Amino acid sequence: TKDWNGIDQVTLRSPRGASTRVSLYGGQVISWRNDRGEELLFTSNKAIFKPPKAMRGGIPLCFPQFGNGGCLEQHGFARNKIWTIDDNPPPLHQSDSNGKAFVDLLLKSSEEDFKCWPHSFEFRLRVSLAANGDLNLISRIRNINGKPFSFSFAYHTYLCVSDISEVRIEGLETLDYLDNLCQRERFTEQGDAITFETEVDRVYLTSPNVIAVLDHEKKQTVVIRKDGLPDVVVWNPWEKKSKAMIDIGDDEYKQMLCVDGAAIERPITLKPGEEWTGRLELSIVPSSYCSEH
Ligand code: BG6
Repeated sequence: TKDWNGIDQVTLRSPRGASTRVSLYGGQVISWRNDRGEELLFTSNKAIFKPPKAMRGGIPLCFPQFGNGGCLEQHGFARNKIWTIDDNPPPLHQSDSNGKAFVDLLLKSSEEDFKCWPHSFEFRLRVSLAANGDLNLISRIRNINGKPFSFSFAYHTYLCVSDISEVRIEGLETLDYLDNLCQRERFTEQGDAITFETEVDRVYLTSPNVIAVLDHEKKQTVVIRKDGLPDVVVWNPWEKKSKAMIDIGDDEYKQMLCVDGAAIERPITLKPGEEWTGRLELSIVPSSYCSEH
């Protein structure tokens, strides 16, 4: 199917009725629904579905930079490019395909970006939906340059929550984090689980590969499994920042929480010919599951 701008979108469905939709604009996952048809990713009511800015919601890909710096645009250019479908991707492990609906997308470096980031790469994204509705994203970034390059990366995952005050994150307690609200100063998390009562914009460092976002009201937990992605960004703009952004409603911050698998503190360096892989898996479990295990 095509969106309003004529840009292709691909929808994947599981036999039991879960689905996900990915746009070739940005290689961005823009919807993920469980088998009851409930949307699990946040999309702003004021989202702008038009280039040149990524749509506010879903899972924009931040590459080759997270945040801003140098002359690259905020969060890099990958989320603002038109990707193509990769009909003949290099093979992945069997378990990455077994019983899953999937699509492979490709972004190649283009000369228009060489001014700010003069490196040749191939970025392959596989989006897959397992029979049980789990969403998997596999990014493979290859250096096809004659010299090494470095990048940072994030799956900027906008989760849809019942009410931000009902949500907590487990798995980040006691970690160090960089606080984007304090010039990336480094702090150590003190509390038990992470809860929300004000704006948060942090990069948690060297985190475990499984973290959980518990939503008390929904009685549902999003389990985030990641690989190759040591850091976790946690972002909620809260009221004041939301009012200053044109593509989010004043109160919509209550229904969203960004929890991103990322590689930020220590950029990834690839030598010529080398490839990096970063995996993210999102699953939904009833909340009782996490307190019992
Ligand atoms: C977050 C950053 O992850 O992304 C924030 O830490 C930023 O500082 C937010 O405001 C949204 O960025 P953008 O470019 O999509 O508006």
